[in-house]
Amino acid sequence: MSGTSYDGVDVALINTDGEEIGRVGGTLYRPYTEDERQLIRRAMAQSANLAERSERPGALAEAEALVTRSHAEAVETFLAANGVAAGDIGVVGFHGQTVRHDPQRRLTVQLGDGAALARRLGIAVVHDFRAADVAAGGQGAPFMPAFHRAMVRLLAEPHPVGIINIGGVANLTSIDGDELVACDTGPGNALIDDFLRLRSGSSHDADGRAAAAGRVDEAAVARILAHPFFAQPPPKSLDRNAFQHWIAQDAKLAGKSLEDGAATLTALTAAAIARASELLPRAPASYIAAGGGIRNPVLMRMLVERLAPATLKTADAVGWSGDALEAQGFAYLAVRSLYGLPLSYPGTTGVPTPMTGGVLARP
Ligand SMILES: Nc1ncnc2c1ncn2[C@@H]1O[C@H](COP(=O)(O)OP(=O)(O)O)[C@@H](O)[C@H]1O
Ligand SMILES: [Mg+2]
Repeated sequence: MSGTSYDGVDVALINTDGEEIGRVGGTLYRPYTEDERQLIRRAMAQSANLAERSERPGALAEAEALVTRSHAEAVETFLAANGVAAGDIGVVGFHGQTVRHDPQRRLTVQLGDGAALARRLGIAVVHDFRAADVAAGGQGAPFMPAFHRAMVRLLAEPHPVGIINIGGVANLTSIDGDELVACDTGPGNALIDDFLRLRSGSSHDADGRAAAAGRVDEAAVARILAHPFFAQPPPKSLDRNAFQHWIAQDAKLAGKSLEDGAATLTALTAAAIARASELLPRAPASYIAAGGGIRNPVLMRMLVERLAPATLKTADAVGWSGDALEAQGFAYLAVRSLYGLPLSYPGTTGVPTPMTGGVLARP
């Protein structure tokens, strides 16, 4: 898995029949180098004009080769480190790198050559998870809810349980018995990452240090939260770069110090998640948070404050892997795809009926 933060590739191994989750194996993280990130960033910028999901003009072809190669390396390193043979792996779920997500145009573009990955690894690969959903009129995101439901079955939490995943884009799943409601909530780490890169050259606000030293401009948070996206009930989804325009228009934000800007964008991220939680059919009593965002203590503190009186635990605190959860999720979805089971639902992506998806590439 490589998410919209394009920080690196996460590998995870799980045992599943596509319904129940059995033994969960090791994980591996293969970060992108700064050059690799720059290439993906260029590909994202150039994907703005794509009309067709298969087009690969400009940097897109080179970025796709990088995505395929880096995922192959990550899986090979993982197998060697864990003493697992390729022949012991039933299937690899290969999400690919999203460079464009525009469900209104029925377009979602993930870079990565599934057939080439299957040949190189000698393992069957399921890829292109989101295409069928978007083609059928769904939002194409979020895709973790079916997996979250299977994971929550293993816990004793009272329902509804809210699962928050803070990647580049943040999303929320509510699990109430078997019923799933989900949506993207708005920015995850993407705004904070972009602001930090612009102002200090760092890839992210490590441990929330800049935000911790700044002051939140609540008026700016309220101004951006007034965007109609935040009032829309679930399901809904967003392109990673959708927020850019909203933020760029905010002149006051542009004039802020590194610290105040980071604090304000961190508060906006927490507030957007809390706002989405208010739009759920039933308020969860407890939340579990995963994704790289949980490593940001300022973001977590703000989230705890804004979700109270509901409680918030980290994925790691309930015995899950906060970092590898999405990689495990796409492994689960790959197996569901093999069996033709639904990946998305009317309540999670707005697709008219429960929808399977994914494309199988054999080695
Ligand atoms: N120590 C940390 N402090 C603050 N933020 C962090 C830290 N570690 C990771 N992150 C954030 O998490 C992001 C990666 O999260 P991840 O869940 O991999 O997102 P994605 O699914 O979009 O790839 C980084 O870009 C960064 O913003
Ligand atoms: Mg990541």
